[in-house]
Amino acid sequence: MTVASGTRQLAFLGEVEDAMRAAIGAWSGPTALAALDPILAGGKRLRPLLVLAATPVGHVPGADTVRAAAAVELLHTASLVHDDILDAAGQRRGRPTVVATHGASTATHAGDLLTSLSLTSLTDIRHDPDVAASDDLEELVTQAVRLLAHTTRSLVSGEAVQAEQERRPDTGIDAYATRCSMKTGVLFGCSMAFGALFGRAPATDVDLLFEVGTGLGVAFQISDDVLDCVGDAARTGKQPGTDVRSGTMTLPLLLCAQSDPEVAAELASPRPDVDLVLERVAASGAADAALEQAGTLLDETIAKLDDLELEYDFDRLRELSRAAVRRSA
Ligand code: FPP
Ligand code: MG
Repeated sequence: MTVASGTRQLAFLGEVEDAMRAAIGAWSGPTALAALDPILAGGKRLRPLLVLAATPVGHVPGADTVRAAAAVELLHTASLVHDDILDAAGQRRGRPTVVATHGASTATHAGDLLTSLSLTSLTDIRHDPDVAASDDLEELVTQAVRLLAHTTRSLVSGEAVQAEQERRPDTGIDAYATRCSMKTGVLFGCSMAFGALFGRAPATDVDLLFEVGTGLGVAFQISDDVLDCVGDAARTGKQPGTDVRSGTMTLPLLLCAQSDPEVAAELASPRPDVDLVLERVAASGAADAALEQAGTLLDETIAKLDDLELEYDFDRLRELSRAAVRRSA
C-alpha cells in the first residue's frame, strides 16, 4: 500500500468510526452503553476496508459510502454480540464480551439496537446533508437496503443451520461450507458490493464483487475456525476450543472426526474432552488440511477479479484478501 492510499484508508476508517459512534450516541441508557462497548473495543474493520477496496479507481468515496461501511460493521458487531450470548463466550478482541459485562438481557437488546442502527445508517443516506445530491441516490439506497436485508436474513439463517449441525460430527463438508457462506460469506459479499454500488460501478461488477466477497468470507471463516483449534488467546483475543465446547462443527473438527472415531464421539458428547480433541486435530494434520482448502478457495476467488469491467486497486484487493485469511479473527 502506498503512503497516499494508506492515508486515504485511515481517513475513511476514521469517518466510519465517527458514523457508528454518532448513531449509538443518539441513544442513552444501559442498552446504548452496552452497544458502544464492542465498537470502542475496535477490531480490524475488515468489512469497511472491503467496502473501500471495492470502490472503483477514480471514484472518491463520499458520505454515502461511509454510511454503507458503517452499516456493515454495525451489523457484524450486532451478530457478534448475539453470537457471544449463544456461545456463552467470555472474551472477544481480548476483552470481556458484552454478555459477560452486561448480562444476557442487556446484551440481547444491545445486539438488536446495533442491527436497527445498521439499517438506519443506510436509510438515512437520503437525509444526510453530507451526502452529495444525485439523481441515482434513491435507487442506490433501495438496492443497498434490499441487499442488507438479504444479508441479515442470511446471517440469521446461517446461525440457525449451525444450531442444527450442533454436536453432529457426521455433518457433510458441503453443508458446513454452505453454512459459512450464509453466516460469514454473504456479509463480506455485501461489503464489497456496497463499495462498487456507491462507487457507481455497473451492475455486473456489483454482482461479481458480491460473489468475490462471499468466497473470501468462506475462506476467512475456515481460517477463523482453524484458529479456534490451534490459535493462542494472546494473539486471537478469544479462548481456544470454544467451538469444541459449544458443539460447533467446523472444518478442522469434521476432517479430524472423519478418520478418528474417538474424536467423533467426543464431538457428539455434551461434555467433550476439549484438550483431547484439540491435540488430535493438531496431530492429525486436519488443521493444515483445512487451511489448504481455505487457500485453494481464496486463489479461485481472487482469480474472478480478472473479469471486472472497471479498474480497481487490484493489488490492494489481493493483499487484503490474503491478509484476512492468514490472520482471521
Ligand atoms: C461469528 O462466527 C458469528 C457470526 C459470523 C454470525 C452470528 C450470527 C448470529 C448470532 C445471528 C444473529 C444475527 C444478527 C444480525 C443479530 P463464529 O462464532 O464462527 O466466530 P467467533 O470465533 O468469532 O465467535
Ligand atoms: Mg462464536
